[in-house]
Amino acid sequence: MGMRMIGTGSCLPKTVVTNDDLAKIMDTSDEWISSRTGIKERHLVKEETTAGMSAEAALRAMENAGVTAEEIDLIIVGTVSADHATPACACEVQAAIGAANAVAFDINAACSGFMFALNVAHAYLQMGAYKTALIIGAETLSKLMDWGDRSTCVLFGDGAGAAIVRADEREGMLAYDQGSDGARGGVLACGNRSNNNPLVETSKELEYVHMDGQEVYKFAVTTVPASLHKTIEAAGLNVEDIDYFALHQANIRIIQSVAKRLKVSEDKFPISLDHCGNISAASVPILLDEMNRKGLLKPGMKVALSGFGGGLTWASAVIEWG
Ligand code: UT7
Repeated sequence: MGMRMIGTGSCLPKTVVTNDDLAKIMDTSDEWISSRTGIKERHLVKEETTAGMSAEAALRAMENAGVTAEEIDLIIVGTVSADHATPACACEVQAAIGAANAVAFDINAACSGFMFALNVAHAYLQMGAYKTALIIGAETLSKLMDWGDRSTCVLFGDGAGAAIVRADEREGMLAYDQGSDGARGGVLACGNRSNNNPLVETSKELEYVHMDGQEVYKFAVTTVPASLHKTIEAAGLNVEDIDYFALHQANIRIIQSVAKRLKVSEDKFPISLDHCGNISAASVPILLDEMNRKGLLKPGMKVALSGFGGGLTWASAVIEWG
């Protein structure tokens, strides 16, 4: 049994924060942020939540796919910023959309979270366990940022993206690759709960995202092209056969470097980071939804997807659209 992606949806918080807005509250500038990252603005939550944005993105994807809540039998959310340790964000989405027949759980693979969710859903559909899956990448990263650390907080944003994938005789997942390197996990880390038990002296200090930007950059520009090459070859295709590359939206320089290493025009790399910033697991599905709603995706097109980030983790896939 194969799998097709049949609908997408997304949801961004109402409040837009530009680089100039940030320059009013910290020592930074539009020039520094734009030239180093390509980011011009991002959406940040006020009253919105990870689960609320996920449910909204899910409803839009369901409408786009023509799928009802009762039909969904699997919900997977990729997130590192769920509203609660438990229940899982996926369970909150299940309740919010009324998908009573679904099994629901979260995956923590940071910026690769949506891609891992896609690959797990594919495995379940392929083995015949479920028929219709709702997969989501969703984050409220702004609550994990140290707003006194200008080298990280300007990079990230909040939002959610969703896709419906369905079991189908025609296999739309042409190939995938995924990997992890826990030994290098310290270069992009976030610990948000310190030990509170009576055996230790309690530190009330919360820890926020800490990143060695240059190490993450080096990891991305070597691992992503290698993973994409491997996946495209496994799909029996050449790089030229790929119509679009939908990459995790971390930084324009990473995307330009990947395009150069693959010898592909940057025109094949759609961008959302300029208006969204880096939204970790939500980046790829939000970008896919924007591409879908702009009418860029035509039946039969080959789209290469790739996520990479904390863990360290990475995952690529080549899908056939429609
Ligand atoms: O999902 C994966 C997420 N991770 C990434 O995408 C990270 C990939 N890494 C990068 O994209 C880049 O490493 C950054 C954009 C994060 C940083 O660029 P960089 O060229 O590596 O800058 P840097 O950290 O070496 O800092 C250069 C200078 C420093 O000043 P000095 O020491 O040279 O005087 C920083 O203090 O830029 C300064 N700086 C800033 N200046 C203005 C750091 N952040 C800012 C800021 N505004 N927001």
